[in-house]
Amino acid sequence: MLRKSVITGTGHYVPPRVVTNRDLERLMDTSDDWIRQRSGIVTRHHVDPGVNTSDLACEAARRAIEAAGVDPSTIDFIVAATLSPDHYFPGIGVIVQAKLGLGTIGALDVRNQCSGFIYALAAADQFIRAGTYRRILLVAAEVQSANLDFSDEGRDMAVLFGDGAGAVILEPNETGDGRGVLSTHLFSDGNFASKLWMEKPCPADNPTFQRAVFDEGKFFPRMDGRHVFVNACERMPESVRAALAHNGLAAEDIDALIPHQANDRISQMVAKGLKIPAEKVVRNIDRLGNTTAASIPIALDEAVRDGRIRSGHLVALTAFGSGYTWASALVRW
Ligand SMILES: CC(C)(COP(=O)(O)OP(=O)(O)OC[C@H]1O[C@@H](n2cnc3c(N)ncnc32)[C@H](O)[C@@H]1OP(=O)(O)O)[C@@H](O)C(=O)NCCC(=O)NCCS
Repeated sequence: MLRKSVITGTGHYVPPRVVTNRDLERLMDTSDDWIRQRSGIVTRHHVDPGVNTSDLACEAARRAIEAAGVDPSTIDFIVAATLSPDHYFPGIGVIVQAKLGLGTIGALDVRNQCSGFIYALAAADQFIRAGTYRRILLVAAEVQSANLDFSDEGRDMAVLFGDGAGAVILEPNETGDGRGVLSTHLFSDGNFASKLWMEKPCPADNPTFQRAVFDEGKFFPRMDGRHVFVNACERMPESVRAALAHNGLAAEDIDALIPHQANDRISQMVAKGLKIPAEKVVRNIDRLGNTTAASIPIALDEAVRDGRIRSGHLVALTAFGSGYTWASALVRW
């Protein structure tokens, strides 16, 4: 019998401090109206100084572990996704391992930005299917607020992003009841790396850390918003169609669509492209902004806990982001 991997617990955590559009108006030339109209975002959460990405990750992980009802000592692998690790290296996987007091298990870090959770899920799913591991902690977390340009120059990005973390526990399902991850589909096109990136610091400057990089604010993330918008609207539906075709399913079969929460207008275009009604689309961008790799597992946890996602439902995940990378997954809940 073919083994599938199944999500047995979900959890999320966002830091308590709420930042409103009005708060941002005080820092840069922007307006509540502009932000709401262009992105659908009303609030986002930011950490206080001293809080690291791994702190958010651990909190989300604890909640997922509790929801799964498993003993943490039985977790045999970690996959962690973030673009905002605590340190340049090592990644947050090992820091989560240490802070949660897990054994000397493997910890894999995934660097696929907004697509990070689905890329991480794809890797974890393969380990479970192959029988390599039996209980994987998959966690995605971001502290975006610590490196955004809150001046007028950075306002296009600074208003969009928020901090947060989401986690799931993945285990094998050998019952043959069809529940679990049906398939994952990963894509990339590095020709567009510079459309959404943090260009510096960069080893080619040799040495990597140059004073000018800091003086000129080159270490802030930058994007071509229009380009990202258009590509996200095309690539996410395309990736879901690939997943549906692979499984012989149709868009009407989807009970819940969780698009990466990049921008509410993008999510609406994705749903429209797939002809999926708004009530099936999970959204939290109005409250949380774009939490990058964490956005899908946070939305998933919210929808599972409030009963929108129930046993037997077909859940479609799709993401698009820096790289460009994009991805989809279908999960029979
Ligand atoms: C950034 C984004 C919201 C801008 O929306 P848009 O509809 O493309 O914006 P418009 O072209 O209508 O407006 C751009 C103007 O708004 C200005 N602007 C940008 N950010 C602003 C802000 N926070 N407040 C006010 N004005 C802003 C720009 O400077 C520009 O001004 P100009 O016309 O004088 O040059 C949109 O492109 C977007 O969401 N792109 C995708 C971003 C994304 O999801 N990134 C992460 C992907 S994972």
